[in-house]
Formats: sequence, C-alpha cells, structure tokens
Amino acid sequence: MRIFTVLLCIAFIFSCTTPEKSQPTIMKKDTHSYSNVDQVRIEHIHLDLRVDFQSKILKGYADLTINNFGNADSIILDTYGLNFKKIIYEDKHGAKYTLGEFDEVHGAPLAIKLKPDTKKIRIHYATSDKAAGLQWLNPEITLGKKHPFLLSQSQAILARTWLPCQDTPGIKFTYSAKITVPKELMAVMSAENPTEKNAEGVYEFNMPQAIPSYLMAIAVGDIEYAKIGDNSGVYAEPGMLDRAVYELADMPAMIKAAENLYGPYLWGQYDVIILPPSFPFGGMENPRLTFATPTIIAGDRSLVALIAHELAHSWSGNLVTNSTWDDFWLNEGFTVYFESRIMEEVYGADYSTMLTLLGQQDLEKTVEKIHAGKHPEDSKLILDLDGRNPDDGMTDIAYEKGRFFLKACENAVGRETWDAFLKQYFKEHAFGSMTTENFVEYINEHLIKGDQELAEKIMLDDWIYKQGLPSNFPKIQSNELDKVKEHIADFTSGKGAQSIDTANYTTHHWLYFLRNLPEELSPAQMQDLDNTFGFTNTGNSEILCEWFKKSVDNDYQPAFANMEAFLINVGRRKFLSPIYTKLARTPSGLELARNIFDQAKDGYHSVSRNSIQEILYPETEG
Ligand code: BES
Ligand code: ZN
Repeated sequence: MRIFTVLLCIAFIFSCTTPEKSQPTIMKKDTHSYSNVDQVRIEHIHLDLRVDFQSKILKGYADLTINNFGNADSIILDTYGLNFKKIIYEDKHGAKYTLGEFDEVHGAPLAIKLKPDTKKIRIHYATSDKAAGLQWLNPEITLGKKHPFLLSQSQAILARTWLPCQDTPGIKFTYSAKITVPKELMAVMSAENPTEKNAEGVYEFNMPQAIPSYLMAIAVGDIEYAKIGDNSGVYAEPGMLDRAVYELADMPAMIKAAENLYGPYLWGQYDVIILPPSFPFGGMENPRLTFATPTIIAGDRSLVALIAHELAHSWSGNLVTNSTWDDFWLNEGFTVYFESRIMEEVYGADYSTMLTLLGQQDLEKTVEKIHAGKHPEDSKLILDLDGRNPDDGMTDIAYEKGRFFLKACENAVGRETWDAFLKQYFKEHAFGSMTTENFVEYINEHLIKGDQELAEKIMLDDWIYKQGLPSNFPKIQSNELDKVKEHIADFTSGKGAQSIDTANYTTHHWLYFLRNLPEELSPAQMQDLDNTFGFTNTGNSEILCEWFKKSVDNDYQPAFANMEAFLINVGRRKFLSPIYTKLARTPSGLELARNIFDQAKDGYHSVSRNSIQEILYPETEG
C-alpha cells in the first residue's frame, strides 16, 4: 500500500513537471483541416517575413514550436499554394516532408517528419499568387494613391494561404513576428502593435494570448495612428485619420459597456484599422486590431454598430471560439446579440430595437431563400459543411437566427439571470473553444437545470437542430419604425415625398423606409424621392446600397452613374452581391453588370471577385 502511494506521488509529480505533454482531447473533427491535432499541436509560431510588393509575395520562414503529446511521427499542416524552400529541425538538419494532393477549397496537406524529441521546426517558404488570404493593392486604389497596401483576411480557411499552420479554429497558439516592409510603410498585425513608422521598415510583433489561425492578420501601408481612449485608437491612411477619429469617438464608451455586461476585456489594447475600400468585409475581429471597411465612415457616426460587433467578438469568438465552422453561430449569433446589448447601453433601446427589427427582416428573407435552394438544412443553427466551402455557412442564420435564439433565452429567464449565465459562460471558457454540442450540455446544466417548463419555453432543440424559425421567435416592436411604416403608407397612397416628416430620421429610419417601399415604383415616384431626399448623392454607403437596389428594380437611370462608380470603388461583398444580383435579372442589366465587373474586378478581393463571378457567369460555376 505504501509503495503504491509513493508510486502515485511520483506519477503525480511527473505529470506536473511535464505539462506540455498533456493536451485536452479534441472535441470534434474539423472537416476543413488536414491537421492531426489529436496527436500534435502548434503552441507558438514565429514568423520572419519580408513583404515584397514587386512580386506580391511574402517570403521568409515560420518557426513552429510544437507539442507532440501523441508521439506522432509526422505533423500535418494546412497549406494553400505555398512554395517551400527547405524545412529544418533545431539542429539545422533537414526534415523530410511531403506535400499531398492539392484541392481547390482545402489546399494541400504538408506532412513533416518528426523525431521523438522534435520541439521546433523551421519552414522556409514563400506565398504565391494563389494566396486568397492576402490582397495586394496597387497605389491607385488606396486613398493616398502613392503607396501600395497589403491586407490579409484569414477567416475562414485562408490563413493557410499565407502561413503553414493547423488551420482549424479549435486549436490556439501564441505568435511573434518580424516583418520587413518598404521603409515608407508601417506594418500592423493582430498583436501588440507599433504606433509609429521606423526608419528601417522592420517591425517586431508579439501576441501573448493564444489565438486560432483564422485570427492571424497583417496589414501594411502608409498608415498613421491616433489615440482615442486609454486603451483604444485607430490606424488609417493619413487622409482618413481625422474622419476616423471623429467617427469612432464612442469606442471607449462601447468598451466600457461591453465590460460591464460580460466581464473584463482581456486583450489589453483595442484598436481599429480603417482599410482601403476594397476590403471585402465590413469588419473582421482580428484580436487587438479590428479590420474595418471605410464604408462605415459616414460622417455622422451612424454606422458604428459594426465596431460594437467586432468589439463584442473579443468575447464571443476570440475568447470562446467555435470549434469548427459547423458551429459558426456560436461566434456570430452570440456576437450580434452582444453587439445589440452594447448599442442599447450606449445609444438607448429605441436605437438598438431599430437595428434588431432590420435584422429580423433580413433573417426572414434569408430563411425563405435558403428553403427555396439546394440546402434547406442550412437554416438550422448547427451546420454540416463537410465537403463545402465554409463560407457557405456565412448567412443570416448564424448571425440573426443565432441572435434571436439568445434573445428568446433572455425572454425566458429574464435579463438578470441570462446576463449572469453569459458572463459565467465567457469566464469559464475563456481562451478555449466550444462545439454546439458542448454548448447545449452547458446551457442544460447551468440554465435549464432540468426545469421542464423552462425547457419548453426556450425550445433549444427547435432552434439548434431544426430548420426555420421556432414558434417562440421573439416579437420585436419598434415605435420609431412604426412611424416610418405610416410614412410609407402615405407616400404610396399618393402623397408626395415632401409631405413626409423626416426631421428625426436616422440612417436606420432611412434603411427601413427604403427596404419597405413597394418593389415597384413609378419613374415619377423615384424622381420625387431622389429630388426630395438626395439619395443618389448621399455619402452613407448603407443608404446608397439600398437606393441602388431600388434604382435597378425600377430602372431609374439617373442613379446609374453613381452606382457604377460605387461598384468600382467599393469592394465590400455585402454591398456588391445584392446590386449585381439585381442587375443580372435582365439581359441589359446583365450586360451592364459584366461591363462594370470587367473594370472593377482587379480591385476586388478574391472573396468578392469569386462571389460576383458566380452571379454574373453562373454557367462557369465550379
Ligand atoms: N467574422 C466576421 C467576418 C467573416 C465571417 C469573415 C466569416 C469571413 C468568414 C465579422 O465579424 C462580421 O461578421 N462582419 C460583418 C459585419 C457585422 C456588423 C455583421 C461584415 O463584414 O459584414
Ligand atoms: Zn462577426
């Protein structure tokens, strides 16, 4: 018995002194990654890369520190179009490696032989023109027009196009980097960042908190920094900086509101970079440094919900991360809910309710579209994207159905209980990852607790595992938008646009107004609206987009020149797709759309380019 105790103690001490060997078991297989993370995991990546704007490649090496807890004889990495020069162990000896078959969506697995004691490998590599995760902008499409710009977009599975890694959201690692850029430019990453250029053009980065690969990010350009709050600020091209500072003035208040709701901001700094307009998304929650489209700079702070959204990801997504892309709603649904709570805190309930109602309308349309399409099962919160591009899951289901599910939970238990639950959820799972199945288990255990009545109120299974919208879908009523509804009725009954009292309209009143007008309007009505409200010339990108959709629907030619300029200048897919889709409905519209696309496509990010290509040339769809 005593010997047994001694052995047990030795075993215990041993297990404590070799913590790097013990790793939690992986929760579920990520079908979008080749990596063998059930045996070996990356713990740290150090990048040493030169940014070459001439050849449009990143070149250098990646040092991978690994934990081979499963004694694998090889580590399998995700790669896409990378060219390898050599791979060496710490002792500088060459490592054997093989690159598997290439697949258009997933890229190619890189298998590197490991020795029993291998802790570090150095991979010398360069990116190629297949790097969809990188966008190289010629000077002409930047604001300053003098210097080139580089930006990355790694979500969902594009990190592998610019660094070899275990490209799955279920695995987290820390990173550091040395990035060499042309001397006139500054580099920033999803890490501790410089705030000034240096004479050498060499920037060193450290990211002490572990992150998944899809949050790896880099931007290089003629950018400057301005501080906004104690731990927040903004990067932008010099000509944009002042406007950006004005627009984002409420950022400190948002951070405070977020912390009050769901616990401390754990990433130190929160900055935003305003990118050139070809950035294909609205925003991307790269840790410490949100990437954002300049189309949110409206001049009146009316589109900053996007910042609340990306900030909220610092909890939902970046702290507690979807394990696989099938669980994407855990990132986005939680974030839209959280965003809306931040907006309510900072701008009041009337305002956030308008946003919620607009979201509900989007969701209803999306559900209809999905149910009419090839994959009606995509209207479940939990997805099955095996064999498909994970971007297929990027719909309003994850965002809006996810958000309304959380709202239904809030309604069922009351705000206080729900907030305490969420706060605890973030705290317990911080820096970890989450599957839908684990979430279901967690909510059953910590919120529902076997209360049958409550379970029936929440309808968990209907929301998560069934298509469409459950019967406890929260009812949203907005007094503000009810007024707009009356205005629409007045207008369509023949009263002129001038009779509408729009004195208190915000961007969101306008959006609701435009979206809920009848689809068909007469030329006189379109003209009346435009003359009275100046839609064709507004500087608000969201309103412009709605107006251009209406203009295409009603062949309102006076808007077309500005629409064309918008489609060429802006690369944000959310704006491009619906306008091109509408244009493609008629032969003459399609011809115009193809012409515009020909002029614009070199400036689009491949993410946007591919989507528009599919809309305009569906027959060539792969
Ligand atoms: N993480 C997303 C963007 C994303 C998702 C990129 C999936 C690639 C794959 C980001 O947080 C986001 O949701 N952005 C939205 C804005 C938001 C306010 C809804 C966007 O870009 O439109
Ligand atoms: Zn998001």
